[in-house]
Amino acid sequence: MVDPGFGIGATASRRTVVGFTGAPALTQKSPAQSTWKAPRLALVNLDPKGQVLVEQKALELQLPVVSNQEGQDFDLLLVWTGERWQLQSRSGSPGPVSAEYVQGPQGYRRRAGGGRGQAVARAVGLKPGRPSPAVLDLTGGLGRDAFLLASLGCRMTVLERDPVVHLLLQDGFRRASEQPELDWIPERVDLHLAEAKAWLAEALSPVPDVVYLDPMHPPRGKSALVKKEMQLLQRLVGSDADSAELLQRALRLPIPRVVVKLPLRATPLAQGVDTELRGKTTRFDLYFP
Ligand SMILES: C[S@@+](CC[C@H](N)C(=O)[O-])C[C@H]1O[C@@H](n2cnc3c(N)ncnc32)[C@H](O)[C@@H]1O
Repeated sequence: MVDPGFGIGATASRRTVVGFTGAPALTQKSPAQSTWKAPRLALVNLDPKGQVLVEQKALELQLPVVSNQEGQDFDLLLVWTGERWQLQSRSGSPGPVSAEYVQGPQGYRRRAGGGRGQAVARAVGLKPGRPSPAVLDLTGGLGRDAFLLASLGCRMTVLERDPVVHLLLQDGFRRASEQPELDWIPERVDLHLAEAKAWLAEALSPVPDVVYLDPMHPPRGKSALVKKEMQLLQRLVGSDADSAELLQRALRLPIPRVVVKLPLRATPLAQGVDTELRGKTTRFDLYFP
């Protein structure tokens, strides 16, 4: 079995300021997160050969390892199946969620050649015949945008502050890069467990052409509107109530293009949007500082 601790930015960078989700009050959250309650989280191992790996991760994440049955006492379970890490609720619904780029919609989109026409590709300024930009993705999440942009040639630096989401991301890129046609992933994707505000406070190297933000938003009235996987992710990390502050920091940098992905009708995170690209449910606000 390939080492599931696969090394895309496998260690937290020296500039990382993060805590561990699930371990009490270590993940940095802003006061506006007060209605969000950190979920009780535990690891479950379904792989007879996975004990060492799972115990090592449990130690890193400061989370307990429990049996499937004991998992009923927890809100969310991080499960090692022997093939992948996945996040699931104790009821199993919605979910399970993992970072998946080979099968499912991501894989289909790539195989079908979908890409440059996608709003996110236009938002970061991808143009035929021009070199693809280097993008700093401040809010990695499940890496769907990062993967799509990397598959179109962008060099991606991807930050994620939540250690559990980071583990899912790392695991998704590891599995994907085992596919011969995706062997470019380690060259193009540089993933870090990092708080983006701390990252931006240091000299950026390489200097990106584009800074990209896709923060988590508070659930709107009809939760059915929130995609299933986003429901679980939201349960895990809450909403990113500090995203306006993060954008302000990004706008102060000498980066020519800053892109924010938002729900279609959301209020802009900062004034001075230079261009907006509208899709059916999302909008990209572009700033050219
Ligand atoms: C909506 S998700 C991003 C989804 C992603 N664009 C995708 O395509 O899957 C937002 C993620 O950003 C992370 N995040 C938010 N603020 C952050 C910050 N200041 N530093 C690092 N990560 C952050 C959250 O933990 C969450 O996982």
